[in-house]
Amino acid sequence: MSVSKEVKRITVHTLQAMKDKNEKISMLTAYDYSMARILDESGIDILLVGDSASNVMAGHETTLPITLDQMIYHASSVVRAVKKALIVVDLPFGSYQGNSTKALESAIRIMKESGAHAIKMEGGQEIEDSIKRVLSAGVPVMGHLGLTPQSIYKFGTYVVRAKEQEEAMRLKRDAKLLEKLGCFAIVVEKIPAKLGKEVSEQLTVPIIGIGGGKDTDGQVLVTHDMLGITKDFQPRFLRTYADLFSEMKKATQQYIADVKSNDFPNEKEQY
Ligand code: KIV
Repeated sequence: MSVSKEVKRITVHTLQAMKDKNEKISMLTAYDYSMARILDESGIDILLVGDSASNVMAGHETTLPITLDQMIYHASSVVRAVKKALIVVDLPFGSYQGNSTKALESAIRIMKESGAHAIKMEGGQEIEDSIKRVLSAGVPVMGHLGLTPQSIYKFGTYVVRAKEQEEAMRLKRDAKLLEKLGCFAIVVEKIPAKLGKEVSEQLTVPIIGIGGGKDTDGQVLVTHDMLGITKDFQPRFLRTYADLFSEMKKATQQYIADVKSNDFPNEKEQY
C-alpha cells in the first residue's frame, strides 16, 4: 500500500479553524519561486506576496512604486512553487484606493493571471467600497490596519501607530467593519501589544500581527528580514533567525577566491 503524498492545502477556513482552536498562524513574505519552495516545504501557513517586494526585491525606499504587473509576476512565481500554503497577494498602491471598479479589476487580474488564493488591501472605512466590490466577486480579502506603508507620506514616519486613544478607537472600529464586510483575516502592523490583544479577543476572524505583540492570532515577518538578508532594517519587533547576508557573502568570497586561484573548477568538475 502506498502512502498518499497529497498535501492538504491551507484555506481561509483552515485559518478560521486554527483561531477557533487557539492554534497560532504563521505567515511570511515570498516573492520568487525558490524562496517560496523553501518556505512552503518548511510548513508555513500563509505566504504573502507583499508589496514589500518594492523594497526587498527592487531596492525602492517605499512600497509605492511597485506596479500591478510586477505584483502579478512575483505572485505567479510563488504560485508555481507552493503546494500547501495559502497565497495572499497585496493589491499595490494606486490599484484600488478611491475606485471600487478599479479595485475589482485589479483583484481579478491577480487571481486570473497568477493563480493566487486571496488579496490584501491596506485601510479601513475609507476603502469600504473597494473591499465590498472585491468580496462580491468571490475573492477572499485580508485587511491591513495600523501602520499601512502605502500611506507612509500621510503618516510621515514609521513610528508605532494607535498609541493615542482616538487612533486606537478608530483602529478597533475599522477592524470590526472589515470583519463585518467579510474579510477572512486582518494584519495589524506596529501597534501597542495591548491593542493587538484586545482586537484579537474582540474579533472572531484571525488577527495576524507584525509588531502587534504576542497575543495576536498569528505573526508575519518579511522573510528577508527574518533570515538576516536585509541588513539595514532592525525594528524592535524583528527577530532574526539567521545571518544569511554574512553566510552568502562568505560563500561568494570563497567562490571568487577559488576562481582567481584556478582552484575551481577542478578535474571532477569538468567534462
Ligand atoms: O508587504 C508586506 O510585506 C506586508 C507585511 C509587512 C505584512 O504587508
